Amino acid sequence: MDIEKLDKKSSRIKNMFNSISHRYDFLNHFLSLGTDIYWRKRSVKIIKSKNRIENPLILDLCCGTGDFSLQFAKMGNVIGVDFAEGMLRNGLEKVKGKRIYLTCGDALLLPFRDDIFDIVSIAFGVRNFENLERGLLEIRRVLKKGGIVAILEFSNPESRFIKKTFSIYFHKILPFLGNLISKSDFAYSYLPQSVSQFPSHERMKKILEDLGFKKVTYKLFFTGISALYIGEK
Ligand SMILES: C[S@@+](CC[C@H](N)C(=O)[O-])C[C@H]1O[C@@H](n2cnc3c(N)ncnc32)[C@H](O)[C@@H]1O
Repeated sequence: MDIEKLDKKSSRIKNMFNSISHRYDFLNHFLSLGTDIYWRKRSVKIIKSKNRIENPLILDLCCGTGDFSLQFAKMGNVIGVDFAEGMLRNGLEKVKGKRIYLTCGDALLLPFRDDIFDIVSIAFGVRNFENLERGLLEIRRVLKKGGIVAILEFSNPESRFIKKTFSIYFHKILPFLGNLISKSDFAYSYLPQSVSQFPSHERMKKILEDLGFKKVTYKLFFTGISALYIGEK
């Protein structure tokens, strides 16, 4: 496996998402056979069961075209932040009439004061951070004391059988189809590479704890193809 460290310079990631934004939703659902929809819905159900605040204020980071924000809007008001304008533009129509406000910004340098959000969520975004620790500290900064952080991210499956079978799809078929359909020569090869280099479940839990999050737990979806990490400030 190629273990050369991926170039996650913010400008490169932003350009990449802007370039595939017109095909993002279709490819997401097509390449995951719709499981991404289930994972977001299930995650919000779990977070809802932990939330004690009525009408919480939610910050959905790396909101892209707004799919996670749309699920959270069933719970409270949502501010969705993403630095790729193309992704946001493709989400505008979807969030129309819902209590969601999409805005352009960098998750590593948030334009919000300390301690204001009840929940900060991020789906399939944290893996792209140029600096993971800095992004997690920004999340902690803007969360209220007792507020919930919820991170949904791809990960490496724990079952050997699933890992082997899934690997053929994830490392060969998905990049081929994704790059072809999105007309990108890179975005869908970057996806499995960035997942391979993302910390293991236990390591990610430890990182969150070391940065001051409490009650950190994680829930694996489909033996760990994706995982939801939850913690409290
Ligand atoms: C894989 S998409 C996920 C979009 C959405 N959350 C979803 O569930 O479909 C990742 C998104 O993260 C955004 N992103 C990555 N790094 C970011 C950063 N530092 N600040 C803001 N957005 C970022 C990208 O522009 C992209 O829209």
